Amino acid sequence: MRFHIITLFPNSFDSYINESILARAQKEKIISFNFYNPRETVTPTEAQKEKELPYLRIDEKPYGGGPGMVMQALPVVKSVERALKKIAQYKKTKTKIIFFTPQGVSFDTSYAKNLAQKYTDIILICGRYEGIDARIKKIIKMEEVSIGNYVLTGGELPAMIIADCVSRQLEGVLGNFDSREEEREASHDVYTRPEILEYKGKKYRVPKILLSGDHKKINEWREKH
Ligand code: ADE
Repeated sequence: MRFHIITLFPNSFDSYINESILARAQKEKIISFNFYNPRETVTPTEAQKEKELPYLRIDEKPYGGGPGMVMQALPVVKSVERALKKIAQYKKTKTKIIFFTPQGVSFDTSYAKNLAQKYTDIILICGRYEGIDARIKKIIKMEEVSIGNYVLTGGELPAMIIADCVSRQLEGVLGNFDSREEEREASHDVYTRPEILEYKGKKYRVPKILLSGDHKKINEWREKH
């Protein structure tokens, strides 16, 4: 699975994707990350070169007024083109393009499973500010996805969440594929050492049944908890 992430802030991904399970999955070439920064698609004008602006604008005020700034469509479209060009180097590809917005379809485990099973490449477009010029939707066929009923400052966290959730659905990413419980929210309580946990004079014990070795009873207990 190749993740192609379109973002103004590629560095914000570094620490998360380069630790632990996602780091190992990249090393083992089960997943990969490619970044495309819309800012890199903009060429400076002579006047901008002279002023030596620290970086080039890709955001502008919204037509019709209103708060904040809007990302221009063209730099994002060009970044998607770059990602598609990269994907075209591979054989037998199937690409999904996702655009993050709080108004999108709700992301969940079954959505992640579907992505993991059907696609080789996922392009994730991370908006910032007040959003991206809506004309992008007419130019690029993409699905609008939300990760929850709240508003974030951008699509970077949603992109990391989708990459994480899709990755754990791919064979070889988790040490034990069976630990990929499908409905995590319904998973049972878990315990580990020590058997008796002492804290502030109180003793907290592991439920006896888990120490019994009786797997039938343990499974029954787990279903209830
Ligand atoms: N961008 C801002 N908030 C978001 C959310 N909840 N889901 C997806 N994209 C977003």
